[in-house]
Amino acid sequence: MTTPYDRVAYPTTVFAQTNPERLAVLAHLAGLNPVPVQEARILEIGGGNCVNLIAMAAMWPGCDAHGFDLSETAIARGQEIVDASGLTNVTLAVEDICEAHHRYPAGAFDYVIAHGVYAWVPDHVREATMRLAAHVLSDRGVAFISYNAMPGGHVRMIMREMLLDAIGVIDDPDERIAAVRDFLEDYARARDGDEPLATTLRQQAGNMLQRPDAVLFHDELGPCFNPQRLLDVAAAAHANGLTFLTDAGRNRQLDGFLADGADMPDDPEGTVLLAASRDDYAALRYFRQSLFVKQVPDRRIDATRIADLWLSTKIRRQDDGTFVLGDDVITINDDGLADALTRAAAAYPQRVPISAMTGDPKLLRVILQLYTEWYVTLHPGPAPFPVVPAERPCSGALVRGMLDLGETTLCTLDHGVIKIEQPELRALLMAADGTRTVGEIAALDTGIPPEDTLAALTACCSKALMQA
Ligand SMILES: C[S@@+](CC[C@H](N)C(=O)[O-])C[C@H]1O[C@@H](n2cnc3c(N)ncnc32)[C@H](O)[C@@H]1O
Repeated sequence: MTTPYDRVAYPTTVFAQTNPERLAVLAHLAGLNPVPVQEARILEIGGGNCVNLIAMAAMWPGCDAHGFDLSETAIARGQEIVDASGLTNVTLAVEDICEAHHRYPAGAFDYVIAHGVYAWVPDHVREATMRLAAHVLSDRGVAFISYNAMPGGHVRMIMREMLLDAIGVIDDPDERIAAVRDFLEDYARARDGDEPLATTLRQQAGNMLQRPDAVLFHDELGPCFNPQRLLDVAAAAHANGLTFLTDAGRNRQLDGFLADGADMPDDPEGTVLLAASRDDYAALRYFRQSLFVKQVPDRRIDATRIADLWLSTKIRRQDDGTFVLGDDVITINDDGLADALTRAAAAYPQRVPISAMTGDPKLLRVILQLYTEWYVTLHPGPAPFPVVPAERPCSGALVRGMLDLGETTLCTLDHGVIKIEQPELRALLMAADGTRTVGEIAALDTGIPPEDTLAALTACCSKALMQA
């Protein structure tokens, strides 16, 4: 069967917010006992070429990663990447969401991920997606489901109507994209007397012009575009025995928790859902990344729960003692915590145990706040990559596999991507396959001066390209 995703490949990449480590941290915050990622069974639903899942499998050789998609072309590409990398803990399949319960047994997965699927499929497939997530999720499991959300989705619907008019009956993908780009370029120009809503739509048009062709083709012009209200998604989850845990998106991680100091309401889940959906209206939210579980979360915020987690951060201390991240400037009023954060930032992308930073509940609350505001990341344990090269340095199996396939954008072992085009760096990463010492790699003709080899390999460690 040929799907639109066979006609035009979707530029699937990695999505750090789907990472089971993040899901585990949020479950842990709610007093649950998620399965350690190193030994977890993971399923990605409608994963395209499943490179997001493959990157997870490369991070934790002990996990058992399964992914499927309806598009044969996408799965064939994913399989090519798995084969080139020699990863033995990934199984990919061409499968239909509506039939997948026959393939995957009940309770078979500890983490279930459906990114970019739920609002882009017909109603019966959307219902089957939630049913499948509930069917395969283990009792301690966490499911991730992202979707275009309301009320921002209404704005996207206005745009979509205009775009579909602009393409009319054009079928050829390239011509569809060209017609849409023509329309958007004209529409994005401000007009005299624009009402605020018109200005918003023109900004949307401008944003859409920045998207790659294949994303425009599928996300905006695909046959299905059904933004969802959080309350409806949660009701669908409930009907299948799942409970809303929280949201994995930026600044939304506490959506599933009660306000600090609030009395325990009769219906904690209903209370947090109502507050979160009111916030969606206030923020005109466009996108949600909701998490669901089978257990009952404790929705009281208890910062002491983070005491046994690990932390990484990119914030940088300035001469005046403040910290910066992007355009944001943060002040930490406790000297001990400020010093601990400075040390953690110096160790980035490595992680430091929070127990070595502080045990003070007040400071743990500050760290939780920094996490909520996206200044630090919390992790269940140490990073799956070394600080310095091993005696026989070994780049990640997926890194070498992707290099072998000629890819220039490589998946890292911190679930990110990095562009590496320099031939000497590519040769170095290929040579570091765990069979040679640093000296033996230096003696090869990689293009990197022998005396710089160790420094170059250490730099590769700091980019999460080397495995332990
Ligand atoms: C917008 S893409 C998202 C792909 C990937 N998860 C991502 O976020 O980049 C939607 C994916 O859902 C898949 N899909 C749609 N209907 C499906 C079905 N009935 N069964 C399995 N996969 C399906 C498509 O083939 C496509 O790869």
